[in-house]
Amino acid sequence: MKKRVFSGARPTGKQHIGNYIGAIQNYVRLQEDEEFDYRIYCVVDLHALISLQETENLHQNAYEMVLDWLAAGMDPKKSIIFPQSRVPEVSELHVILSMITPLGRLYRVPTFKEKVRQQPDNVNYGLLGYPVLMTGDIILYKADTVPVGEDQAPHLELAREIVRRFNNIFGETFPEPFVRLTSFPRVLGIDGVQKMSKSLNNHIELSAPAKEVERRVKSMVTDQARVYRTDPGHPEICNVFSLHKFYSPDRLEEIAVDCRGAKIGCVDCKMMLANNLNKALDPFRERRAQFATDPNLVWDILEDGTKRARAIASQTMAKVRQKVGLA
Ligand code: TRP
Repeated sequence: MKKRVFSGARPTGKQHIGNYIGAIQNYVRLQEDEEFDYRIYCVVDLHALISLQETENLHQNAYEMVLDWLAAGMDPKKSIIFPQSRVPEVSELHVILSMITPLGRLYRVPTFKEKVRQQPDNVNYGLLGYPVLMTGDIILYKADTVPVGEDQAPHLELAREIVRRFNNIFGETFPEPFVRLTSFPRVLGIDGVQKMSKSLNNHIELSAPAKEVERRVKSMVTDQARVYRTDPGHPEICNVFSLHKFYSPDRLEEIAVDCRGAKIGCVDCKMMLANNLNKALDPFRERRAQFATDPNLVWDILEDGTKRARAIASQTMAKVRQKVGLA
């Protein structure tokens, strides 16, 4: 039997190079992999409701995100792209799964603890159920392969536990889903400390103009032990060097040697990165501008994706209702 891909992303608007390196490049690559029958990508708008700030421009943010996905090479003929809330079966499955998920287990999920710290005034029920809904997303399509960043691995572990429990109680129904990491599972922001993220404003947008890319790269934190131009650098701890791994693969060794030997300074090194990054982003910017000329394109793709997703989802739910005794 063929394997099946599912991934989800909250509608965060314009995507950044961290999203691309950590996830989107994998979405694009998996399109050519014959191992899979379906590749399904979901704009998880229900998940976005956990934070009021994210709900403000939900539609616009979904639009910008999907436009970036298309510009990055996602092909709606090969991938099903749809908004989570348009397939209401997932909410029903979420309720059913919530009945077999131990509460104590959910309190121990690291992202829950983190959210409690981040938004102490809004510790809602949905926050706790976040990974249960995510499990519903994946197994509604009986997906087994989930391309996400390493921060999502604990959610997948919980998803497998829920699947095993369901299969045990109601009979074999769902496959266990596993995380599929990229070769760069963690991309740091321009601060060099935290994960690249729009909310921290430490990101570089895929569609940013060349000047803005240059400005952001120039403000990147490098090896802080390197104070003077003549000090030797330590590429292995420098975030600019990490990005060179992705954007300057041919010159990597040379950059490392020149940095260690203080033959190049951080400014030179950053300019090189900015240039290579801009070269990589040029075709992306062109495609994005071209796709944006058709205001219906994204919405039509999401509409079509919804139909295809729902066809699978309704079959799964018919089975699930029988198994749990509702039908
Ligand atoms: N939790 C994921 C994130 O924050 C988003 C997500 C929701 C997801 N449902 C999913 C990812 C299903 C993969 C599969 O990035």
